[in-house]
Amino acid sequence: MQIRFADTRPQGDYALVVPVAGKDRSSLAALGGSRQSVEDALKRQRFEGDVSNVSEQFIADNGSVRRLLLIGTGTGDAGGEAAEKLGGTAAARLQTSGEKTAVIDLSGLGYDADAAARVGLGAALRSWRYDRYRTKLKDNQKPTLDEIVVVGGATGAAERYDQRWAAVVEGVSLTRELVTEPANIIYPETFVERVRKSLEGAGIELEVLDRAAMEKLGMGALLGVAQGSVREARLLILKWNGASKDGQPTAFVGKGVTFDTGGISIKPAAGMEAMKWDMGGAGAVVGAMKALALRKAKANIVGICGLVENMPGGNAQRPGDVVTTMSGQTVEVINTDAEGRLVLGDAITYVQRNFKPGTIIDLATLTGAILVSLGHEWAGLFSNDEELAAELQEAAAKSGDKVWRMPLAEPFDRLIDSPIADMKNVGPREGGSITAAQFIQRFVENGTRWAHIDMAGKAWSDKAAATYDKGATGYGVRLLDQYVADVLER
Ligand code: BES
Ligand code: MN
Ligand code: ZN
Repeated sequence: MQIRFADTRPQGDYALVVPVAGKDRSSLAALGGSRQSVEDALKRQRFEGDVSNVSEQFIADNGSVRRLLLIGTGTGDAGGEAAEKLGGTAAARLQTSGEKTAVIDLSGLGYDADAAARVGLGAALRSWRYDRYRTKLKDNQKPTLDEIVVVGGATGAAERYDQRWAAVVEGVSLTRELVTEPANIIYPETFVERVRKSLEGAGIELEVLDRAAMEKLGMGALLGVAQGSVREARLLILKWNGASKDGQPTAFVGKGVTFDTGGISIKPAAGMEAMKWDMGGAGAVVGAMKALALRKAKANIVGICGLVENMPGGNAQRPGDVVTTMSGQTVEVINTDAEGRLVLGDAITYVQRNFKPGTIIDLATLTGAILVSLGHEWAGLFSNDEELAAELQEAAAKSGDKVWRMPLAEPFDRLIDSPIADMKNVGPREGGSITAAQFIQRFVENGTRWAHIDMAGKAWSDKAAATYDKGATGYGVRLLDQYVADVLER
């Protein structure tokens, strides 16, 4: 999808999109002679201009007929979120409509440069789709829309889009692609290769550890998870140095379980296919790295993905096995399905030993329990640092990648003590997301600022929303991008 910005509407064929703010009809001035009939039609349709209300009409225009989409924006402020919804709604409605070009006319709405740019962002994000495996799409199911022109926004919208949001679209798209691909296609090795290709020329330095290298480092927890699979584990390290001084980097760490059967503690069959997206945290990390590199973020970031497949098998780890982590701490593996924390523990030790980050943010589709707590609206945020938690909460509110703070406390930590090893990998059913976070915290060394985001309810959506269709959401990319913009580039 091409997103363009212009001062005036182009010549020729296009569908015209006009936003309508609640009961205010002043934006219809953009329709010239058709205004009255359009307004009458809106009345007949009982169109109220509420957010994402749509009226589709056809108007006469220079002897031909033009498709007109009136999209409600509600009466709230004309900020970024409303702007993204407007662009997203337009793109969703027109994508397979037969129209090739859509013109979104913001005249008279008073959108500033960023809001106008975010109309383009919403449209680009919402029009992402992945048809690679669909060989029998009928012609009228295929996308036709290939260009969206935003007119009438403040000057500077095009620059704002190019400098910030175009990169975010690329990052989110990479994440969605990785999350969407099935586990026979994307496994640790191919995840690395797909990312390598996608990041070519972006200026990111890539390093990959294979099993032998991780064995040498003593990453017994991560490798224990991987040992039941014929797919070898990988640790993917991405480095972006966009800040001039060689200051302490910030680390993003992602859970990359390319398929989670549960291992010997095998999951029930129903719905297990969803576990192809158990690499959503790693997907978000690479998507964010791509976005940050493309927009040349002035920050030093290291992204780490722990990539494994969790399978049962003759060599799979057993419940009760004790593994030694890279940190030296030992873990009794009570449940092989609590594998994400094992992967993250070693990944976090690795990043601390090698990069000494001042801040670590990990993202993981870690627990079913976070879905019980927060459903599909919020990801859980856990942190050992009040300031970091507040920074992430603000980035979440601004970006739309929502987080809700959850507690950490010593009584929860005690629940994962083991009679045979330093800790066990599961606590009781109650507070399952919290004990999972406590487990990860045991790998955070000497007061490093750390946050854990449990995004099990966010990587995938069964229903479409303003900026994504059903399927992979790309959650996490915008959160990290906003965090970097507000906190590290300030
Ligand atoms: N990947 C799952 C968590 C998950 C569940 C993500 C549902 C998305 C949707 C994780 O590895 C897992 O299996 N967690 C277990 C932990 C339990 C064994 C302590 C869970 O949540 O049931
Ligand atoms: Mn699991
Ligand atoms: Zn998992």
